[in-house]
Amino acid sequence: MLILGIESSCDETAAAVLANGDTLLSNVINSQISIHEKYGGVVPEIASRQHVKNIFPVVAEAIKQAGVSLDQIDGIAVTQGPGLIGSLLIGHCFAKALSLVKKIPYAGIDHLTGHLLSVFLSDDHPEFPYIAMIASGGHSSIFHVTSHSDFRLMGRTRDDAAGEAFDKVAKLLGLGYPGGPVISKLAQDGNPSAINFPRAWLDKESLDFSFSGLKTAVASYVYQQNKNNLPLEIPDICASFQEAVVEVMVKKTMMAAQNTDSESVVIAGGVAANPRLRQAISEEGKNKGVKIFMPPTEFCTDNAAMIALAGYYQFKEKASLRYDSDVYSRSQF
Ligand code: KG4
Ligand code: ZN
Repeated sequence: MLILGIESSCDETAAAVLANGDTLLSNVINSQISIHEKYGGVVPEIASRQHVKNIFPVVAEAIKQAGVSLDQIDGIAVTQGPGLIGSLLIGHCFAKALSLVKKIPYAGIDHLTGHLLSVFLSDDHPEFPYIAMIASGGHSSIFHVTSHSDFRLMGRTRDDAAGEAFDKVAKLLGLGYPGGPVISKLAQDGNPSAINFPRAWLDKESLDFSFSGLKTAVASYVYQQNKNNLPLEIPDICASFQEAVVEVMVKKTMMAAQNTDSESVVIAGGVAANPRLRQAISEEGKNKGVKIFMPPTEFCTDNAAMIALAGYYQFKEKASLRYDSDVYSRSQF
């Protein structure tokens, strides 16, 4: 079964072709970072217009690189939400049009489901059930995953998502957009214990997150240092901030594994590309006897391969969308 995946929920236009749910034939991503970085974040209107320009060449390139023809495609899987409405509409309408013209069935895919299943793009993947921590620009959520289509939300962010915290802290430090990659790079030369930023544990048993207090703590630290004419050691601030995020994420994810007697834990989403998070959760997994699975970093950040994969499972269950289905901006979980 050949699935064409299309992703346009934020600032990447992406398309991929996946064969039989396990062989990735192409994976094309056009990132708009260079266009949005001067604004310090994604500008939705500009993102939509870029998707309009990119969608056709990106999909055509994915088909070409896969070495197949459009007539061989058995299903089109496209991100339906959550994300930026204008951006989602471009991919979604394109997929519907292609589906109608070429008479290929299509399926609307939830973006978080894509991240949840992205671990199956690697040979090294867990058995069900497992705990998955999805940390991206819009979400920090812990799920109990019992099959390719059953996900129970156990905890979520009450305010900023983890990636959003990285992006906002990078912005206030004048480091540009997106924040995660630049902060994690600078953090390599910093001392994670230099500044004791707060950890928001919330209630003792809570698997929810809150990162907005941490972001405010970094802002007040910067304000105080400036006010007192003290230097800003950027690598130390980055390392200490990153450690505060990582410590909470690792502890809560492992607590979810313990509460559900899960033998495996998956981390995915853009923040799962963070080297310190990958290292810390691997160490904790070893200590607790829990197997840790992480997609390679190119499958953590937004891509269409994970959408094609989620589509593969949806098509296997014969689920298909009506042509009057619409995109959605907020998480359905
Ligand atoms: O999954 P993703 O590509 O898009 C969304 O679905 O949001 O995640 C993007 C987020 C951004 O906030 C970005 O700063 C963060 O992932 N990110 C990272 C790293 N690479 C990307 N955060 C921390 N460390 C990284 N190395
Ligand atoms: Zn994402």
